[in-house]
Amino acid sequence: MNMSNNFRMIAKTFYGFEEILSRELKELGAGNISQGVRSVSFDGDIGFMYKANLCLRTAIRILKPIATFKVRNDRELYQNIYALDWESIFKPSNTFIVTATLKTDHFNHSLYVSQKTKDAIVDKFRHSTGNRPSIDKDSPDISIHIHIQGNQCSVSLDSSGTSLHQRGYRTETNIAPINEVLAAGLLMLSGWRGQSDFLDPMCGSGTILIEAAMIACRIPANINRKFYAFQNWMDYDPELFNKIRDGAIARIGDFPFDIHGYDKAPSAVRKALVNIENANLSEYIKVEKKNFFKSEKSGERHLHLLFNPPYGQRLTVEYQEFYKQIGDQLKKAYPGSDAWFITSNLEALKFVGLRPSRKIKVFNGKLESRLVKYSIYEGSKKAKFNKQTQD
Ligand SMILES: C[S@@+](CC[C@H](N)C(=O)[O-])C[C@H]1O[C@@H](n2cnc3c(N)ncnc32)[C@H](O)[C@@H]1O
Repeated sequence: MNMSNNFRMIAKTFYGFEEILSRELKELGAGNISQGVRSVSFDGDIGFMYKANLCLRTAIRILKPIATFKVRNDRELYQNIYALDWESIFKPSNTFIVTATLKTDHFNHSLYVSQKTKDAIVDKFRHSTGNRPSIDKDSPDISIHIHIQGNQCSVSLDSSGTSLHQRGYRTETNIAPINEVLAAGLLMLSGWRGQSDFLDPMCGSGTILIEAAMIACRIPANINRKFYAFQNWMDYDPELFNKIRDGAIARIGDFPFDIHGYDKAPSAVRKALVNIENANLSEYIKVEKKNFFKSEKSGERHLHLLFNPPYGQRLTVEYQEFYKQIGDQLKKAYPGSDAWFITSNLEALKFVGLRPSRKIKVFNGKLESRLVKYSIYEGSKKAKFNKQTQD
């Protein structure tokens, strides 16, 4: 990597994923990695920016800061934004959007800050080229982010565009599909690297299965994604991007174990199969219509489970019973397994009836949740039986 062409970038992520995102960045070759809150900063060159967008599993977007300056009022904001060399960043024929986040007493409304920024950019283009770019709130070519903290303003370009959870394989969604970045992060937190058989016994549209297979085969997270915002930048180098993509594809490996999904709903199974096909992973993932509570572990090999059961709205007898059944089923029919699941129904967790060996605080959207681990040992059935006979 040519260090002189390096610049600072910020990868945004979910609460609790900062450390695994740092690890991913280190493995990809980022420099100067530093963890923030729901973000990780790092150095890299333009090729690394392409690689980060393509390969990172736990990043939601990657920002490239382009300027920082002091601001105390809207006039200073306008002047500083106007002074930037926007014509070398994008074309007036591109559409754009400005978003802002504020932690300051100098400005009250983020909408006002984005409006002022937009005005300065439009005026600059109009004066220097005679043409002006338009705003597109839904699918802009260029996304600009303003962050004001105290009197410090930083301007960033969003190199990703739409959130990186939009991997490009999920055309079918079931009820409450899990976010792809969340699924990948949970898998990584659970220690999944493709070291054993894998089961998602309530797989819905198949997101966890697909992310698990991509991790196991070292398939770049966004290999099926069609578009990144950096492709609209003036400095976009398609040849370099193709080279980076080919390099990442060359590192894809094989996976010697089984990845299985069950769902009791036939419609979910159909959707999962379409998404798996979209991700070109049909040879690695098998999905069956099956009730988890009537299933059992097949074979002697160690099994890694990760799933997101239905949460239920509140504590109802139905959900107490459902979570009790999860615990009973794991204990009864899944010896030799590590079972992980995420739930935001913290009350229902008490009814699982097994002692979790790990409990990790995460968020599913706005919902505070737990990723819990239950280690089901080979001998637990026998041990329980012995215990009962002693009692
Ligand atoms: C929250 S959704 C899972 C979403 C999934 N991770 C996705 O990305 O689409 C829960 C799923 O569990 C399934 N389910 C509920 N009870 C089940 C059972 N006893 N056996 C198998 N699947 C079950 C539901 O049909 C539903 O698809």
